[in-house]
Amino acid sequence: KILILDFGSQVTQLIARRVREAGVYCEIVPFNKADEVLDTFGAAGVILSGGPASVTHSDTPRAPERLWTMGLPVLGICYGQQTMVAQLGGSVTASDHQEFGRAFVDVKAGCALFDGVWKVGDREQVWMSHGDHVDRLPEGFEVIATSEGAPFAAVADEARRFYAVQFHPEVAHTPHGAALIQNFVKGICGLKGDWTMASFRDTKIREIREQVGDAKVICGLSGGVDSSVVAVLLHEAIGDQLTCVFVDHGLMRLGEADQVVSLFREHYHINLIHKDASDLFLGELAGVTDPEVKRKTIGKLFIDVFEEEAKKVGGAKFLAQGTLYPDVIESVSFIGGPSVTIKSHHNVGGLPERMDLKLVEPLRELFKDEVRALGRELGLPETFVGRHPFPGPGLAIRIPGEITREKCDILRKADAVYLEEIRNAGLYDAIWQAFAVLLPVKTVGVMGDARTYDYVCALRAVTSTDGMTADYYPYPHDFLGRVATRIINEVRGVNRIVYDITSKPPGTIEWE
Ligand code: XMP
Repeated sequence: KILILDFGSQVTQLIARRVREAGVYCEIVPFNKADEVLDTFGAAGVILSGGPASVTHSDTPRAPERLWTMGLPVLGICYGQQTMVAQLGGSVTASDHQEFGRAFVDVKAGCALFDGVWKVGDREQVWMSHGDHVDRLPEGFEVIATSEGAPFAAVADEARRFYAVQFHPEVAHTPHGAALIQNFVKGICGLKGDWTMASFRDTKIREIREQVGDAKVICGLSGGVDSSVVAVLLHEAIGDQLTCVFVDHGLMRLGEADQVVSLFREHYHINLIHKDASDLFLGELAGVTDPEVKRKTIGKLFIDVFEEEAKKVGGAKFLAQGTLYPDVIESVSFIGGPSVTIKSHHNVGGLPERMDLKLVEPLRELFKDEVRALGRELGLPETFVGRHPFPGPGLAIRIPGEITREKCDILRKADAVYLEEIRNAGLYDAIWQAFAVLLPVKTVGVMGDARTYDYVCALRAVTSTDGMTADYYPYPHDFLGRVATRIINEVRGVNRIVYDITSKPPGTIEWE
């Protein structure tokens, strides 16, 4: 496996993505924890990430000194290149000539990093983002590629298997970057690239059995990708020792609760407690209009109901959760202080302590698309695996203002028509998330000869890779027209449709 030392780059996770796409397992460790793990991790090679600091200042991060004498191949990227060069006796200067964005490198020498990808004399597109640059190489290094702003765009000491690049091979804007990373982890570090979802599944099943023994496990099931995959994986590992608890808050989409029950109980024969708590949730939410209060109300009720149901299982020792890798990577923060809470997301926090349960988190090492791949490996239907994300508080945050059962029913129908049209048009997979929002506004319309006074429904669809930034999806006008006509004709209570064309930032994906 590969160890990635994080110096605080915005795109360190992309390095991990590229390594894993090459079929090689890797983990990200913050630079200041490197000392602790270096000897025990068992790395076949180390990658040093980029970062916002400058090696020209004292007190900026460095790799542990003994990394350079362990005989391991090392690839330094951007800041990682600069610290490698500085630590091995070369020098780095801050220059006026900064390079940001697209740049071109000229390949000057062949080396294992470029094998089968770049040839001497090629001019290749890369993505740069740096102020400082290397200006003198340590002994043993040679230049293998140059660019206008970075005469040492790529350097190597092939004898020691040290490679360092000023550009970012991990980003999509370096078209052959993934192939370079693959050369490093396979060709140079000698790893086979046999880390596949099939092997991951077998390993995890073994680990789950070892961890759990013959104890009972409970698992919260929402019908989302992560909890579905956890449930099926655990069921494969421990069968009837698993009980899933599905807290139905009545804020799901049309037919969703039934789909969850029929897939997991009837198809997979998983022990499933389906608790219809819609009266309780809608009752507590009556009159609540503040989005944060909605979230907190739902979050608290969810835990209460979940706990009550979970207790019925009797003697459970473990709680299975769909925690993913991005939730557990310790991030390097130079700015300090916790980031501002824009929206509080709820989970079953606090529950394991209260119920004295140990956690089983089989997806802790995976990124979202790896979870999807594992779901496919486990035979979960595509309608579950390829689902758009759906927020924990459900439709509650898609009904600005007061929530009533009537409004939920109207929104469910409108949303179902919208999603059906998206699927019919073959657009579902091109969109990251799409949904309807029921606005707390009534407007006047005319249908037949009569005046109507009904709700406005807003449609949202965004493209994104991680939900952190997003842009609205540019539907053809005739598609929007078709959806509008169908919703107004088929859903009583709605007489006007608008399309949300806000990007994130400054908007958020949800309306609340
Ligand atoms: P925003 O609206 O913040 O959403 O741009 C980003 C992503 O997070 C989802 N989201 C939530 N998920 N509980 C959740 O589990 C929440 O309270 C919540 N709020 C937003 C949203 O659907 C999008 O995918």
